[in-house]
Amino acid sequence: MADDSPAVATDAAHWVLATTTRELARRRKLRVEVEDEAIALFMAGDRVYAFADVCVHQDRSLAKGTLLHGSVICPGHQWRFDLETGYEPDQDVCQPTFRVRIHDDSVYVDLRKTSDDSPRRTTS
Ligand code: FES
Repeated sequence: MADDSPAVATDAAHWVLATTTRELARRRKLRVEVEDEAIALFMAGDRVYAFADVCVHQDRSLAKGTLLHGSVICPGHQWRFDLETGYEPDQDVCQPTFRVRIHDDSVYVDLRKTSDDSPRRTTS
């Protein structure tokens, strides 16, 4: 039975279609703009991660970064943001991230940025 509670309806209102897994699989990273929000999407293994595209350091595009060992490395000054948390341990800062859901081939992103104590998870 579907849950039509106000909480579920409010939550659903924040999820937007960002891309497809097929599109993302080509280069394993992709920059999209959804409702004026620039988002960097990354695919590692069978998981998809979503970050605010603009680096918290000096505004470089994380979508142009490099995926390596569970991190995305910013092309600006090589800060390494953990894919699961957005945390950069050497700088003790977090890149804003978004929750991700996958349904069939569609990748949905929750436009409410998550905090660093809420791990980014993907579901399929
Ligand atoms: S702009 Fe990203 S590390 Fe400097």
